Amino acid sequence: MPASIVDHIKKRALAFFRDCRGSHDWSHTERVYNLCLRIGEQEHADLEVLRMAALLHDIGREQQDRSRGEICHAQVGARLAREILEQAGVAPDKIERVIHCIETHRFRGNLEPATTEAKVLFDADKLDSIGAVGIGRAFLFAGEVGAKLHNGGIDVRKTRRYSKEDTAYREFVVKLQEVKDRMLTEAGRSIAEERHRFMVAFFDRLHEEVEGRV
Ligand SMILES: [Fe+2]
Ligand SMILES: [Fe+2]
Repeated sequence: MPASIVDHIKKRALAFFRDCRGSHDWSHTERVYNLCLRIGEQEHADLEVLRMAALLHDIGREQQDRSRGEICHAQVGARLAREILEQAGVAPDKIERVIHCIETHRFRGNLEPATTEAKVLFDADKLDSIGAVGIGRAFLFAGEVGAKLHNGGIDVRKTRRYSKEDTAYREFVVKLQEVKDRMLTEAGRSIAEERHRFMVAFFDRLHEEVEGRV
């Protein structure tokens, strides 16, 4: 596939991120793209499909955020991506393979990734929510919804999303600590385990500092 098609898709995808928030901005797509190439090579995936899927996977994000979670960005993103890929002249069988990756990449979604490329995108996307980058993104998101710095002393599972209690620690408890067990590829799992250890150490330390113990 000519590089110009990937460049064209990148330009079209970028346009969806003009007004987006820092926790889900274009730099997330760039990190996922890089991880897709790294994991995709190790898993012998079709890197052409992966490049397109990574660039387009979150173009529905802004619509989901504006609807405060009512719209699913994987579904709306897949529809938008199909139009872009058809207009770019991508072969129909490739389009279907890219669309499957986008439709199934969501952690909270109910469609399962069935191809190597979809599994790689799923893992790359989740890896960007853990480790040092994941912690940074969780605090950015908490700031965006007006949440407090920390709420370690309460049962965060009983608190609500998009509220003052929607802290980075809440995100860690309800989602991020589970990520390493959801990996679908061998390469993804080994990166996740390393990032998980770092994240656990960070939140242990945060509790200690908040309580004045260190
Ligand atoms: Fe996504
Ligand atoms: Fe994503």
